[in-house]
Amino acid sequence: MKRRSYMGAALAVMLLASASGVAAADDPLAATGRWSAYSRVAAQTPPMGWNSWNAFTSDLDEDKVMGSAQALVDTGLAAKGYRYVNLDDGWWLKRRESDGRMIARAARFPSAATPDGATSFRPLTDRLHGMGLKAGIYSDIGRNSCGQVFTSTFPNQPEGNVAEREVGLHGHVDQDIALYFAEWGFDLIKVDGCGVRGLPPSDKRVQAGQYRAFEPIIDIDSLGRTDIVKVRELYEEVGRALDKHNPDGDFVFSLCIWGSADVRSWGKDVGAMSRTSEDISPTWGRMLHNLDTVSRRALYAHPGSWNDPDMLFVGKGDFDLSHPEAARSHFALWAMVNAPLLIGYDLRQTTPALLEILGAKDVIALNQDPAGNQAVLAYDSDDVSIFVKSLASGDKAAAIFNRTSAPLEVVLTAEQLKFLAKADIDLTNLWTGEQVRFQGERKFKLEPRQTLLFRAKGTRRLADGVFLSEQPGAVNPAVDGVVTPIADPMIHRAPLPWHGTRGFGERPRYGGWGGAQADRTPFDQELAIAGRTFDTGVGVLANSRLEVRNTGFRRFTASVGVDDSAVDKARPVTFQVYGDGKLLARSKPAKWGQAPQDLDVDVSGVRLIELVARTSGQGNADPVTWGDAALRR
Ligand code: GLA
Repeated sequence: MKRRSYMGAALAVMLLASASGVAAADDPLAATGRWSAYSRVAAQTPPMGWNSWNAFTSDLDEDKVMGSAQALVDTGLAAKGYRYVNLDDGWWLKRRESDGRMIARAARFPSAATPDGATSFRPLTDRLHGMGLKAGIYSDIGRNSCGQVFTSTFPNQPEGNVAEREVGLHGHVDQDIALYFAEWGFDLIKVDGCGVRGLPPSDKRVQAGQYRAFEPIIDIDSLGRTDIVKVRELYEEVGRALDKHNPDGDFVFSLCIWGSADVRSWGKDVGAMSRTSEDISPTWGRMLHNLDTVSRRALYAHPGSWNDPDMLFVGKGDFDLSHPEAARSHFALWAMVNAPLLIGYDLRQTTPALLEILGAKDVIALNQDPAGNQAVLAYDSDDVSIFVKSLASGDKAAAIFNRTSAPLEVVLTAEQLKFLAKADIDLTNLWTGEQVRFQGERKFKLEPRQTLLFRAKGTRRLADGVFLSEQPGAVNPAVDGVVTPIADPMIHRAPLPWHGTRGFGERPRYGGWGGAQADRTPFDQELAIAGRTFDTGVGVLANSRLEVRNTGFRRFTASVGVDDSAVDKARPVTFQVYGDGKLLARSKPAKWGQAPQDLDVDVSGVRLIELVARTSGQGNADPVTWGDAALRR
């Protein structure tokens, strides 16, 4: 353990038998006693299925969709959990001018044709449901689609006059959601954001009268030029319509604004899955980019709402079957970070080698583990990442990932797994079944682009409980203290295929930097209070409130203080622990440089614990550390 000796004296905390907490209704740090992250019934584990886009772009039709759906069933993939069959861009023909009803492209989807021309996808969704599958559809939050704005040379663009070509949800939210869900029977909707991004009044096509202008509220390159509040409100409006037209709650709301508008922070409160980055392409560098946009966001994923680094490209380009290591890495990593597993391959052409990867049941089981803990980065560098995921059984999974194209030697340690170093650790390689036993640490050789994927059994370091950072799926940063969003600088940059090396390259642009982190500070430093370091804990900015689900534990313990990485250092922080909305304990005001205060709080019978770190002042406050934060029996 790399912990230094504890120099300062632990301070007792005041235990308050009864206290009212902060009452002000407009105080975001006021305890609510309730879990606030999005949690409908449908996506308690990450959604799995198939989507048309990576396979066909907008060149889709009924044969391609139903062929892939049939293949899901015939190959056994459906039985392994791949159930959603999602139409992406290209399904639409136009919006009927008389009443605004959306009309499907019946020339491509013959079963959608109706004698009166109104069209209906009901026959298609009925067939999918009859096969034991679910059906997904696609729209845009603006008036126009991504195809219209960015890929207008692709097939199946909406047709007709300006109004008829306005196929997006804007101005038609209730009508469209009622049609897609109540009438047509879809189970999922992916809502893109191109229509609020790419049609400013200055756009040539707008000036030529081809489209109505939409004053952009998203600039993917600039948080400052993005209207975050407005973007969120538009998505929330869709969410309300979805609730209204799906009284059983069994639907998936998929947000697709590519990490813009600070969505990496709030997507978890609005939808069941939320894209954290630009579109993936079948290239190694872009896969790294997309992975990096979720890998430090474990606390922002929970049963019911997942980080979405985009759909799978297993089977294509750098991940085709002549690159099996890379293909397995892509799949293993997506499984570990609890990404929705949406196949982007023409499954009518499937091969046994492809099925071996996409159908790897032990790997799928990691992704679908009921505890819903996204893997936490236990080690990372530009060359190697080690992810550790805590499973419902108490076992761990570890992915040791060679990001480079050269072979590498790596070491996995007991500390990284939060297992005791002096007890046996048993690893099972989930691709080969090979078993390895070791104590302390173990060396491995990685092939270029290889991910070693293990299930690990050992003796947990915390014998009588669980560290909060071992169960990120049960910790929700309801308020993460980030008042002014900051772009995340820790993301692999690779040329976007559609930009190449024009311009001067990609800079940090996705918000979310400074958000709560497992086992590190919000800015990726080692957790430390007055020189005492913690390899375990939660790092978050002050003026934050974490919600923690408690499933029968009796004590909450932590060593708390202002983190050594603070820059302001002036403002003292008070740490408060609430149980079901009632104040249970409070630290003394903690100043930078003061030794950690030990909290030991009785949480018996409490279902929801809230951890509040409060300070004065406006704006982003200093990082604080809930060191060794744990629930104990
Ligand atoms: C955007 C999305 C993609 C896909 C296309 C369709 O780029 O991010 O996933 O849906 O639009 O045009």
